[in-house]
Amino acid sequence: GKDGYRHYMEKELHEHPLVIGQTLQRMVDPATRRVSLPDLPFNLASVPRAVITACGSAFYAGMVGRYWLEELARLPVDIDVASEMRYRDPPLTPGSLGLLISQSGETADTLAALRGLREKAIHILSVLNVEHSTMARESDTVLGTVAGPEISVASTKAFTAQLTVLACLSIATARARGKLDSLREEELVGALLDLPSRAADVFKQGDAIRTMARVVAEARDVLYLGRGSLFPVAMEGALKLKEISYIHAEAYAAGEMKHGPISLIDRSVPIVATAPSTPLFDKTLSNLQEAKARGGRLLVFTDTRGAERVGAIAEHMVVLPSVHDFVAPILQTIPVQILAYEVAVLKGTDVDQPRNLAKSVTVE
Ligand code: M6R
Repeated sequence: GKDGYRHYMEKELHEHPLVIGQTLQRMVDPATRRVSLPDLPFNLASVPRAVITACGSAFYAGMVGRYWLEELARLPVDIDVASEMRYRDPPLTPGSLGLLISQSGETADTLAALRGLREKAIHILSVLNVEHSTMARESDTVLGTVAGPEISVASTKAFTAQLTVLACLSIATARARGKLDSLREEELVGALLDLPSRAADVFKQGDAIRTMARVVAEARDVLYLGRGSLFPVAMEGALKLKEISYIHAEAYAAGEMKHGPISLIDRSVPIVATAPSTPLFDKTLSNLQEAKARGGRLLVFTDTRGAERVGAIAEHMVVLPSVHDFVAPILQTIPVQILAYEVAVLKGTDVDQPRNLAKSVTVE
């Protein structure tokens, strides 16, 4: 049941802290602050490249994974949505790693992409929530997200669990490739172990998020902006808003705004920014100033350090706990999903069963 929540989505949003913690329990030793993955049938140190593919939210999780694998592990990564990947014919070195991500393990396009990669002698490592699924059977290795059943069509907790697994995989890959010393590993694992309690703190911002939701609910179009590993979080926010509130939303890498979408900006198109104080914060802030100067209404998700700098340019701000840069995309996802939920509630839509959508898309 819904345990007293109005919708499964609301219940599942509240499970973020628990699910991140459970997923970490499988992959991290809190005593040594080291990642320990199950034995893999291939060597992470010698994989020449990774190909990541998935659909929808799982694809955005993969995009964050790309930033981590490139930055931490110095592993070349190719990524595409599965509906494109299955019809592409990328030149691949045998022994590469195919990284498939899916909550259900049954998504038709992702499964077809998996089979296509297999034929090219690619190791298939799947990040799956449903461990007895078709994709699980056809993979060489499965890393499970411990999110429990996700009922709401809009994915929430499975997404942060996917990010948690990808973060651990990136650390393990970096270590295997000699790119991570043990001090830095302890620091990154420490940041992950801090997440469940920081994630619980996000729910203290409910009023601030609902204030933002009232602005968004009046809009016909909304622009989401983010940079680096926060860009996929902006994409996740825009997708969630579209899915359940039926408001048109688009996500842009903040630096791309001046290459087109800036012409849309006026008071009727609110701008939602995911802008915690990571090393790219100043860049995002200057994009927000440009938007403000053109009459844009800024709704900004930031953290305690970023809040001072964002200051008065934001019409509304949600100030989240400051966390390590590495895990910022995981934390920032939660309020962005809550915003979509609150907008849908204001609009009175069928939150758990939005029109035209299915929980698992088993046809092409
Ligand atoms: O089961 P999967 O993770 O493979 O599903 C992929 C997408 O269909 C899914 O993430 C979809 O985009 C969600 N409805 C997003 O909220």
